Amino acid sequence: MEDRALPDTETPTAYSIPMAVLAELTHRCPLQCPYCSNPVEMEQASRELSTAEWQRVMGELAALGVLQIHFSGGEPLVRKDLVDLVAHADGVGLYTNLITSAVMLTEARVAALAEAGLAHVQISVQGATAAVADRVGGFRDGHAKKVQAAEWVRAAGLALTLNAVMHRQNLHQLPEIVDMAVAMGAQRLEVAHVQYYGWALKNRAALMPSVAQLDEATRVVEQAQARLSGVLAIDYVIPDYYAVRPKTCMGGWGRQFFNISPSGKVLPCHAAETITGLRFDSVREAPLAEIWHRSEALNRYRGTAWMKEPCRSCAHAEEDFGGCRCQAFALAGDAAATDPACALSPLHAQVFALADTEAATGGDRFLYRNFSGGVPEA
Ligand code: SF4
Ligand code: FES
Repeated sequence: MEDRALPDTETPTAYSIPMAVLAELTHRCPLQCPYCSNPVEMEQASRELSTAEWQRVMGELAALGVLQIHFSGGEPLVRKDLVDLVAHADGVGLYTNLITSAVMLTEARVAALAEAGLAHVQISVQGATAAVADRVGGFRDGHAKKVQAAEWVRAAGLALTLNAVMHRQNLHQLPEIVDMAVAMGAQRLEVAHVQYYGWALKNRAALMPSVAQLDEATRVVEQAQARLSGVLAIDYVIPDYYAVRPKTCMGGWGRQFFNISPSGKVLPCHAAETITGLRFDSVREAPLAEIWHRSEALNRYRGTAWMKEPCRSCAHAEEDFGGCRCQAFALAGDAAATDPACALSPLHAQVFALADTEAATGGDRFLYRNFSGGVPEA
């Protein structure tokens, strides 16, 4: 490892034990989802951390006190060494979760991952039927593969969460998606409206739901939560543009979670590289603990001292930490601005009106995401 001196800032003791890390093993992925939140500029395979580098990093994670590792991407199953990585993570005492589209799973690979110590699988779904889901994912027969993979996961005794990314073009299938999660034996369903970062921003007009759709989705979720209590836990993330209060993004910048990008950069969230002007330190250059405590980019928006008005004097500052820095940068051009999802942001009304207009006039054609730079829907 090539050591690089980091600034000698004070250790933020209140944030000294990150709970979980999202290990983005690769940006490669067989699907082409228009809502992908990976950066527009993807990391090439040749820049990815090697097996040995990831194994060293996992030792550093455990020593730092991290409890959970979420293997993600892109599609983590693209990595041929995934079983070895899971085994190593389990060996150093990390709770392991695989976040996957599942289209590359086989029964043998599920068995090998379970044997290696994998505890939990999160499968993304794009709809309740092949017609809708395969169109959204830009991958033929993907939906049938996911249904089969979920069966293998449950048969192997692994915990299962379904992650349903919802938007204007699949919200009508939400009741069927809830039923599908129950039929698959999932313990948890995440109903997550698209967040508009990275590639998703290019498809915002084709994805933005209407206010009426959002109200109906909220009704469906609340009814299902009451009906399925004790059977299926349902998490619900509403679209930021229609929110009144912003989400506490990542539990606060550099507070509880962080990401490691395919090439080893330590990021406060998956979209942080969309903020220009920040330099993220790499596990190839410095020990992880040193980066967590002293990274200039992580310290930039930690806590509340960096805030401007109206956040600075707001009673909610310690609860939501001013919302999402990436969204503030995308919509206000300033990562230190109040997240426009907040009703107290001067941009809030404008953002709400933009969403309402795009939902009505945005058209339905997707721009699919892939390594060739994006393909317009035929
Ligand atoms: Fe949160 Fe800032 Fe809005 Fe207050 S003004 S609710 S701190 S985003
Ligand atoms: Fe980056 Fe919210 S996604 S801070």
